[in-house]
Amino acid sequence: MKDSPIPGTQANKPLLKLENVSAGYGEMLVLRELALEVYPAEMVALVGSNGAGKTTLLRVLSRVLPCSGSVTMNGRELVGMTPDQVFGLGLVQVPEGRQLFDRMTVQDNLLMGAYRRSDKVAVAHDLDRMYALFPRLGERRRQLAGSMSGGEQQMCAMARALMAAPVLMMVDEMSLGLAPVVVEQLMEVLAAIRGNGVTVLLVEQDVQLALSNADRAYVMETGRIVHSGPASVLIDDPAVQRAYLGA
Ligand SMILES: Nc1ncnc2c1ncn2[C@@H]1O[C@H](COP(=O)(O)OP(=O)(O)OP(=O)(O)O)[C@@H](O)[C@H]1O
Ligand SMILES: [Mg+2]
Repeated sequence: MKDSPIPGTQANKPLLKLENVSAGYGEMLVLRELALEVYPAEMVALVGSNGAGKTTLLRVLSRVLPCSGSVTMNGRELVGMTPDQVFGLGLVQVPEGRQLFDRMTVQDNLLMGAYRRSDKVAVAHDLDRMYALFPRLGERRRQLAGSMSGGEQQMCAMARALMAAPVLMMVDEMSLGLAPVVVEQLMEVLAAIRGNGVTVLLVEQDVQLALSNADRAYVMETGRIVHSGPASVLIDDPAVQRAYLGA
């Protein structure tokens, strides 16, 4: 069996696999019988309109929202685990709206990402790595996170997630409210992160952006997957173009 670039995984076996996943809030069902797979070192996009259920799916994966069906990571069932346990397995979110600790410094936010790690030397090394990856954060390490620009806050949220040493990083609406030039920079960083062997699940309302950067994509409408395939094929699919790309 072929080894993948990520230790402990195999390239031809899904890192993340969802089968028949349904979930909702109280009586309201939002996700309906979803199936989805992410392979090691892939960048997979999950796209869809407002309210389709993308963030809800990420909540299910982080185990803050219960679901029926099966979610496995490297063959291990996550349903039944606590949010802290799945975080410990390396399933880490960059949440919609950044959700930084506004009254803490940039550096303290980054260290919060590493709260579960006891390897102090490696954490200090990773902090330096983050400041090399995002020089802006290095210059602003003592600044309160809440006083930074939107782009800087998004960098801080991504760096905080990376400080957890993720296996699979889920990024929710990275581009929202940011200037195209900043989005482009963040995309370059994501590509570099992925080049270092971190698998990425990119949740985006900007379908053009997502499909031009991901390997594969899933299109979600009202809680169901309606299209999936290589991003380069979906971007030329007339139905996707009509619904999402203004064609
Ligand atoms: N805490 C909640 N309680 C009740 N309903 C909720 C809750 N959070 C989300 N919903 C509902 O679930 C549905 C899916 O919402 P969700 O946030 O997952 O969509 P989304 O695809 O992430 O949308 P967006 O692109 O706007 O971020 C919506 O109808 C929303 O109103
Ligand atoms: Mg959302």
